[in-house]
Order: sequence, then C-alpha cells, then structure tokens
Amino acid sequence: MNKCSSVVSYVRQLGPQHMPLWRQGIELDLNEFSHPWTEEQWQQTFEVYTPYFFFHYRPDNSEAGQELLCTALLLMTPGDDLAHLVKIQTKRSVQGLGHAKKLFSEITQTLARDGLKTIYLEVEESNHPAVQFYHHHQFLVLRRLKDFYGQSRHALAMAKSLTATQANL
Ligand SMILES: CC(C)(COP(=O)(O)OP(=O)(O)OC[C@H]1O[C@@H](n2cnc3c(N)ncnc32)[C@H](O)[C@@H]1OP(=O)(O)O)[C@@H](O)C(=O)NCCC(=O)NCCS
Repeated sequence: MNKCSSVVSYVRQLGPQHMPLWRQGIELDLNEFSHPWTEEQWQQTFEVYTPYFFFHYRPDNSEAGQELLCTALLLMTPGDDLAHLVKIQTKRSVQGLGHAKKLFSEITQTLARDGLKTIYLEVEESNHPAVQFYHHHQFLVLRRLKDFYGQSRHALAMAKSLTATQANL
C-alpha cells in the first residue's frame, strides 16, 4: 500500500457531504469490531455530545469510491477540556501498517489546537494491540475497572495529557 496517498480529515458538524464516509465508518464498526454500536447509539452521539469524527481514507476516483482505512470518534461534554476517545479502529486487512498512528497524530494536534487538555479512554485489558497502541502514544493507566465490559471483562482507564503537544504547536 502506498501510505502517502492516504488522507486524514475530521468532522465536527455532520452534514450531507460527509454522509458517504460517515456510513462507511458505521459499516467499519459493524463489520470489524467485536461490539459494534446500534443505530440509536450513533444518533445519540450527535444529540448529547460535541463529537469529533476522524477519518483516515484513501481517495479513489474509481466507481468504488474512497476506501476507509481507519476511524476514531471522540466525545466532549460542552465546556469541558477533556475528550473521551470512545472508538478507534482500523480495517482488519490494513492493520499494523501505521494507519491508526497517522490518524492519532492528527487527533492530538487538532485537539491541542482547539484547547483541549486531556484524552481519556477505557480499553479492555485483554485487547493487547489496543493497550500497546495507547502505551505507544504515552497514555498512562489511571485505574483498573473490574467487570467494566461484563463479567471477568476488566478495563483499563487511561489518559494522555495534551499539554506537551500544545507547547509544540
Ligand atoms: C488498535 C488499532 C486501532 C491499531 O490500529 P493499527 O492501524 O493497526 O495501528 P498502527 O499500525 O498505526 O500501530 C501503531 C502502534 O500501535 C501498536 N500496535 C498496533 N497493533 C499492534 C499489535 N497487533 N500488537 C502490538 N502492538 C500493536 C504498536 O506500538 C504500533 O507501533 P509500531 O508499529 O511502531 O510498533 C487496531 O488494532 C484495531 O482497529 N483494533 C480493533 C478495534 C479496537 O480494539 N479498537 C480499540 C478499542 S478501545
């Protein structure tokens, strides 16, 4: 894969022009994630929170259209300076190629520029690729959440400060 041909973009106000990518993002969740969201959960995202939806995709002028590689969804409570990373996922066939890394670099720079101070998340303790990914990006473990995802499915609550990123902008 030619990594240079991919593009990262993000959406704050979902409009009709974003719908093809948005639908692909939901499909990615349905097809590739072990616990996908329902249509209602996606809807609530825009009713209750101030979301950022990041897309990493490969533009394509063929009939097949753009190929979505990776997405991330972050939610903010209005007025707060903490962003909650609730989803990040790379299409299985292109995992391990640095797509989430490129997406995450754009996420940290965008949020820091917008004055956010912290990224917070929960991750299932047994999800080693994701836990490694977060350690790799300087997330620190805050605490262990017992049975967070169901019986014997523990989570780690993790956070990353964006202050250093802000200093470098
Ligand atoms: C976690 C996830 C988003 C990583 O996406 P990716 O595009 O494959 O990640 P990248 O190729 O950008 O990897 C970046 C870094 O993450 C870590 N990493 C990624 N996949 C890994 C794996 N399978 N094992 C160990 N470390 C891994 C490495 O540190 C890697 O850096 P390096 O290649 O310099 O060592 C991907 O595994 C995924 O979509 N998982 C399913 C959905 C999910 O569980 N999301 C998290 C929910 S909280």
